[in-house]
Formats: sequence, structure tokens, C-alpha cells
Amino acid sequence: MCRAVFVLALTVLVCPAAEALDNGLALKPTMGWLHWERFMCNTDCYKDPNNCISERLYMQMADVMVKEGWKEAGYEYVCIDDCWPSHQRDAKGRLQADPKRFPGGIKKLADYVHSKGLKLGIYADVGKNTCAGYPGSLGYYETDAQTFADWDVDLLKFDGCYMDWKLLGEGYMNMSRALNKTGRSILYSCEWPLYEWPHKQPDYKAIREMCNHWRNFDDVYDSWSSIKSILDWTASHQDIIAPSAGPGGWNDPDMLVIGNFGLSHDQQESQMALWAIMAAPLLVSNDLRDICPRSKKLLQNTDIIAISQDPLGKQGQCTIKVDSFEVWERPLSKKRLAIAVLNTQEIGGPRGFFIRAAPGWKICDPQCNVTQILPQYKELGVQTPHTKLVVSVNPSGTTLLTVTPTSDYAGLIL
Ligand SMILES: *[C@@H]1O[C@H](CO)[C@@H](O)[C@H](O)[C@H]1NC(C)=O
Ligand SMILES: *[C@@H]1O[C@H](CO)[C@@H](O)[C@H](O)[C@H]1NC(C)=O
Ligand SMILES: *[C@@H]1O[C@H](CO)[C@@H](O)[C@H](O)[C@H]1NC(C)=O
Repeated sequence: MCRAVFVLALTVLVCPAAEALDNGLALKPTMGWLHWERFMCNTDCYKDPNNCISERLYMQMADVMVKEGWKEAGYEYVCIDDCWPSHQRDAKGRLQADPKRFPGGIKKLADYVHSKGLKLGIYADVGKNTCAGYPGSLGYYETDAQTFADWDVDLLKFDGCYMDWKLLGEGYMNMSRALNKTGRSILYSCEWPLYEWPHKQPDYKAIREMCNHWRNFDDVYDSWSSIKSILDWTASHQDIIAPSAGPGGWNDPDMLVIGNFGLSHDQQESQMALWAIMAAPLLVSNDLRDICPRSKKLLQNTDIIAISQDPLGKQGQCTIKVDSFEVWERPLSKKRLAIAVLNTQEIGGPRGFFIRAAPGWKICDPQCNVTQILPQYKELGVQTPHTKLVVSVNPSGTTLLTVTPTSDYAGLIL
């Protein structure tokens, strides 16, 4: 809906993103931990008790999140993915946790996570089965929504396997209404567009009205080629997907895989910077109990998290690709701008980028104050439209800046 607004005697049209799901949640991109990429469907607690999908895993992650600064940095949701349930529903048709791996049940696990000041996420599927073959929610949306509410669950990741694609929209909408009907605020993470794209262009207005975030593209893997493919897909579809992001609903490019095995440190910095630019949920999938200090410091970097969580809530976009550089820019509150320069040339050493070639640099007229956040924090000071500033960018790395326009009122007054 467009509103007429009077600004200095000029009438301008203000068109906010479509209405978001009205459950009061995800006003900023969700932050937390999600088990899938690192722990997958490891259900063998006999051979691998420390890493299997069991209540112990989530309790230990919750403990570490509180002790090691994650909670303080903003990471809030401890999320279960696929492979938690028993293969059978109970006598009343309700999902139940695998009794061997979750002897206390999900309600007790939620109580534990809440006692740490954190929130619990769970996983289910819109179709007949989950992707790993556990019972799906088709035909049970109200039952399952009520079960999750009874357990005091705070987030539902709702996958899209084993579903007739023509019913996807209906299924995701029905579950959204079922969650609302429980009266409990449960953050609703959808995969509706991901499963619809092979058949038709998704209706992002409808998706935003029903979901708090939504996956668009393939699962992330622990590799640079996976991160690159997600960035490429996002850049080539940004005109369709970026406008639908805003407080209450976000595009979800999948988990952060920082702190695992597959990315160099520069590539980890690129993922962190670009996920912040994309206003993406920051759901880390790694072993928080055993993570290299440098990766931990990156994930807890308050300057990057501030970009991710900026109150304007606008998703950034790729604004130029030139000479094997990609520039991504995100408008921030107070007319500030975040600029990420990614060096996609995977050979050679650091290369220089003339920062005034970034399209958003025009906010530096008459001048601006520039702070480099990655790879090292550096105050680059006051710059102008004609600056000769060159930033250095490592191969497959990203240099991340914030730019604050500064007027020269002081000069005028003096
Ligand atoms: C359910 O939806 C209504 C109308 O959109 C909203 O006002 C209410 O807060 C929602 N309740 C929950 C629990 O999400
Ligand atoms: C969604 O709910 C409507 C109304 O209850 C029902 O007719 C329809 O079959 C449901 N669709 C799915 C996929 O569950
Ligand atoms: C530029 O920004 C830095 C970092 O926020 C700040 O310390 C510095 O005072 C600012 N300089 C000007 C001239 O505004």
C-alpha cells in the first residue's frame, strides 16, 4: 500500500515492502545456531555420542552460547533440524521425539534452553515426509503446530520435501495460520520459494505475508563454490527477491558455515560480510564447542553484526561487477551505507580497488567518513567524491566498509 506523505510541501509516495507476517517476530534478521550443515542426520549415538542428534547436543550448544559470548553477541535461537523425531507418531497422532536420543522430550529441552535465556527451534516438513524420511506434517498442520506450542518451541523451520508443488503455497499458508491459531509466537522459517522456483516464479508478496524468512536456493555446503553459487544466484535474482525483505520477513541464503573445514579465513570473512549485506538470518552451523578463535572472533564481530541488524532493515544488493570485483552495497539507517568489495579472482595476491568506483560512493558528496571493518578495523577518515583511496582486497576475500555522509555545516557556520 502506498501512502501520500507531505515532505517540505512536496507530495511523495512511500511504498514500504508488502505487509509482513504479523507475529511480532524477526523484526531483525534471526540470529542463532542450527545443526544441519555440521551435524546432518547423524543418529548413531552409540558410535558417536558427542555429535549425534540428541538432546545433549543442543544442551551443550546452549551452554557454550552463554559461556562463550555468543548470546551476548546476539545469537539467540538454538535450532534443531531434521532427524529428531521418532519414525512413528504417538497414539493421538502427534509427533514425538526419538525416545533414545531425547529421553527428556522436547518440552524439557525447551525449558532448559529457556533457563539459559535462549530460544528453541524445531524442524518439520510441509509434505508427507521430511527430507530424511521422518513423518511429515501433511494432514497434521494443526496438530503439529499445537504440539510445538505445547512444548514451548520458539521457531519452526518448515521444509518442503515430498510435497506436490502445486499444493506448496496452500500447505505453507495453512501451517502459518495453524501456528497463529495456537496463540504462541513461533518464528516461521519457510522453504516455499526454494521448492517452487523449478516450476514457477514464487509470489514473494504472499510469502512475506506468511513467513518470517524463506529459503530461495540450494542448501549451503562447507565450500567456497557453494558460497559463490549462493551469491551468484542472489545477484541474478535480486530485482525479484530483495524488495520483499524488511522487518518481519527476510530472504534466507542458508547457514553460515564459518568455523568448519572448507573455507579459508578470507572466504569466511566474505561469507560473514555478504550475509550481513544481504540482511540474511545469521544461523551458524558449526561445532561451537570446538571452534578456532579467529572464526569465533569473526562471527562475534560487533561492527558486522550491527550491519546485519541495522534497524532500517533493507537488503543490500550487488551494484557492480567489474574487473573480477563485485561491489555489494546495503543502505543503513541515518543515511549510512555499507560497502563490501569482493575480489573474485582466485589467483595472485591482494588487488587494489578504487573505492570511488562503487556506485553508492555518491553519498560522499560533499564528504563522508569511512571506516574499514574487514579485513582489519581501520578508520580511513574523511573522504570526498574525488578521493584517490584504494582499498586492498585479498583473493576470494572481502573488504567491508561503512560510509557515513558528513555535511560541512561546521565550515558554513564558521
Ligand atoms: C495472529 O494474527 C493476528 C492478525 O494478523 C495478529 O494480530 C496476532 O498477533 C497473531 N498471533 C500470533 C500468536 O502470531
Ligand atoms: C489448506 O486448508 C484448506 C482449508 O481448510 C483445505 O481445504 C486445504 O486442503 C488445505 N491444504 C493443504 C495442502 O493442506
Ligand atoms: C569517523 O568515524 C570514526 C569511527 O566511528 C570516528 O571515531 C571518527 O571520530 C569519525 N570522524 C569524523 C570526522 O566524523
